[in-house]
Amino acid sequence: MTTAESFCHTSQEVCGDGLPDIFDLQETAVLTLAFILGWFLFRLIFQLLPALSRAAKLKGTDGMGRCETRPLTGAEPEVTSTKACEETKGDVLPRLLAPRQGNAAVLDQTSARQIHSSYEECKVLIESSSDPLPGQESHLALARDRARHQDILGSANCIEAVRRAGGRVDQRTLRFFVTACAKGGMMDKAIACFQSALLEGLAPDFQSYSALVRGLCAAGQLDQATYFFYMMLEKGHRPDGLLADALLECCVSQSHLPLVEKVIAVMEDFELRPSNSTLAAHIRLCFARGELHQALQMFKEMPKQFGFTPNAYVHGVLISMCYSFGQCDSALQVHQSMLSCGCRPDSRTYECLIRCCFAVGHLSQAVALVDEALALRGGAVPARRTFIDARAVEDLLATLCRRGEALRLGLPLVKRLQAPAGGWVEHERSFA
Ligand SMILES: *[C@@H]1O[C@H](CO)[C@@H](O)[C@H](O)[C@H]1NC(C)=O
Repeated sequence: MTTAESFCHTSQEVCGDGLPDIFDLQETAVLTLAFILGWFLFRLIFQLLPALSRAAKLKGTDGMGRCETRPLTGAEPEVTSTKACEETKGDVLPRLLAPRQGNAAVLDQTSARQIHSSYEECKVLIESSSDPLPGQESHLALARDRARHQDILGSANCIEAVRRAGGRVDQRTLRFFVTACAKGGMMDKAIACFQSALLEGLAPDFQSYSALVRGLCAAGQLDQATYFFYMMLEKGHRPDGLLADALLECCVSQSHLPLVEKVIAVMEDFELRPSNSTLAAHIRLCFARGELHQALQMFKEMPKQFGFTPNAYVHGVLISMCYSFGQCDSALQVHQSMLSCGCRPDSRTYECLIRCCFAVGHLSQAVALVDEALALRGGAVPARRTFIDARAVEDLLATLCRRGEALRLGLPLVKRLQAPAGGWVEHERSFA
């Protein structure tokens, strides 16, 4: 008996019903079914596995964006490999690629398309943990690029797109955006972006604060500038001289003297190096308090202590202060110091000096100042002339006549004013 014959024989014996073929068919069908079922189950598990591991990772943050270490909020924790790409393509991308106004829209779309050009790249982006929201990095980079080109609206749109997709602005982008806004004088946008960043838990760096405060000072928004300046100090940032001076100048120009005192105190606390602006602010503070003597002392000591030469602005502020206090001699002394520093008075300073002189009867000195300002005695090139207010000269001539100096000082001055060299007089013949 062969093996085949014996097998056939035994099977017939065991089954005994004489239907071996049908039994085989049923068995094959069940096996195939089981295999197919198994295959589907297996695939399902394979697909779910990355999803589970991802969900576990996201549980690490509290899922509400309150976690400091993870930059993204994990707004869609179920976002996973293949399914995620479908979702992302159907959800986030159209939002990111939504048409926007202006130049930025074109750039925006092309850059976003380049990054999401293929399904595979999308998958890679989603699975890399550093950028759970695809396109966030590229959009922030684009926002910075737009800000660098002063396209504030374009930049704001990019940042807005990132926020709508659940992301948030980073340090660098905030700094670029605020700087652009400060340059363009669009401080409302800067404040809005800055506030949102604070709400999102970002701690802006010193440069962002500095750009914001200086922009606000330049725009004359002193209240807001002070608010953010103190917020910056609270966060432990050290101010620099440039920032403190910007705030000082804004306070002084709006005559907010209590604040000038506070800012000066902050500068002293941080031992910031004073500049010309600081000195001028100090002098104006003394002026407001009526302390001419302190102002003169500070003017002498501060440049010596910190090794700098005061500029024309500082001298001018001090001269007009002396004039207001009727201290002609001090004003003239400051004028001398000004000339020795190589600074040239501006028209307002010359007017103060001239009025100062004839108020106390230094008539020939007043005439000399007119000569100096208008370069009437030759020597100086015409470009070095300072055009003073005609009324100051008229008042001087009137005073000369009243004091009986018309012949000695008045007439020669009028002749010099009329001389061809004094082209200035062409349209000021009223003096004659
Ligand atoms: C003040 O102004 C003068 C003249 O422009 C300049 O030489 C000097 O460096 C300035 N000093 C400071 C500390 O700003």
